[in-house]
Amino acid sequence: MPEVRVFPDGEALSRAAAARVATTLRSAIEAKESCIVALSGGNTPRRLYQVLAEEHGTRVAWDRVRVFWGDERYLPPDDLWSNYRLAREALLDRVPIPAANVHRMPTEDPDPGVAARAYEEVLRSHLGPRPRFDLVLLGLGVDGHVASLFPGSPALVEERQWVMPVEVPVPPVHRLTLTLAAINCAEQVFFLVLGAEKAAALAQAVMGPVEPWRYPASAVRPADGTVIWWVDEAAAARLHHSRALPG
Ligand code: 6PG
Repeated sequence: MPEVRVFPDGEALSRAAAARVATTLRSAIEAKESCIVALSGGNTPRRLYQVLAEEHGTRVAWDRVRVFWGDERYLPPDDLWSNYRLAREALLDRVPIPAANVHRMPTEDPDPGVAARAYEEVLRSHLGPRPRFDLVLLGLGVDGHVASLFPGSPALVEERQWVMPVEVPVPPVHRLTLTLAAINCAEQVFFLVLGAEKAAALAQAVMGPVEPWRYPASAVRPADGTVIWWVDEAAAARLHHSRALPG
């Protein structure tokens, strides 16, 4: 059963989650002199990234942190819709992380499949035979999608590859995404979920059966890792209170 932490609003959630992300990065660096994290896209993590830079930026040995992404829209890196641009502006340009430690998903090749395979090689060169991220940050779509794994996507049943090109039902249509096979190797997964519109998808993901095809987020169950849901009260409205801890 995953841990669910409920906060009154997005600001409280972002501040608490940012503090825990910083602690997680520091613990990994203390244990193995490095930390490998996959960042989330979408709007929800923006404030967390800002707080992480503003309040914790001097307390993390960023030269020991290696950053990847969980998914990317197949657009130029300076596009307003780019997940890389979001993280660069809110966090990475504001902390002393070496450029060589930041591995954005490439979106220049005309063929997203070529880009997916190239990124997989980069991941394998840094992670070895298993994509055991110390931390994966994820959001949740109203339809239960996670990263760019949408309901009914063929990528949901991929067991070998860690990165897949996908076409999704909402713009931007072309994307790259980690697969569940990769996500579920993580040591820790933090979901960030805000808003009443996510309440049904959150309840299904936390309390429902594992149904990857219909509810991809329900299948984020790291074999030897933990999941913490960072949610606001509006998103938690349909959770049984026994499942939710006060922030
Ligand atoms: C993306 C994200 C996607 C996002 C959810 C929630 O590239 O859009 O990876 O999975 O996390 O759609 O998005 P919001 O945080 O904007 O609600």
